Amino acid sequence: MELGVDLVEISRIRALAKKNPKFLTRVFSSAEIAYCRAKKDPWPHFAVRFAAKEAVYKALGRAEIPLTAISVDRPASGRPVVRLSGRPARKLKLSLSHGREHAVAFAIRL
Ligand SMILES: CC(C)(COP(=O)(O)OP(=O)(O)OC[C@H]1O[C@@H](n2cnc3c(N)ncnc32)[C@H](O)[C@@H]1OP(=O)(O)O)[C@@H](O)C(=O)NCCC(=O)NCCS
Repeated sequence: MELGVDLVEISRIRALAKKNPKFLTRVFSSAEIAYCRAKKDPWPHFAVRFAAKEAVYKALGRAEIPLTAISVDRPASGRPVVRLSGRPARKLKLSLSHGREHAVAFAIRL
């Protein structure tokens, strides 16, 4: 079993996206963008997904996988599901949380 955790400043993600219009489409899947954009304030949701990619990357160890291949699916049940290159990764478990300033993601590889 391996663990990974990441903490992200929400304002940093917002600033990156404002500075570079291609940032969001480079980093996030279209489903992630649609999920976040539907929220009143999308930035905590983008930030926590960014944290999720880094946490999963850490839990995978030295796997040579680009951050963009990791995405977060959000089924109606609520619990986020990791996808690797679009496929559900059942051995990866994720827990996400966001506050006013920070977003945190915790990943476990079973
Ligand atoms: C699901 C719940 C725990 C989320 O907690 P929160 O403090 O509102 O929000 P957080 O910032 O900590 O977490 C949000 C993330 O949790 C994740 N999440 C949502 N529902 C979830 C669930 N059922 N299981 C696991 N993770 C869930 C999501 O990834 C969400 O982020 P996203 O919308 O960007 O994808 C909360 O809404 C809830 O339903 N609580 C029920 C328990 C309760 O009533 N407690 C009261 C005190 S006793």
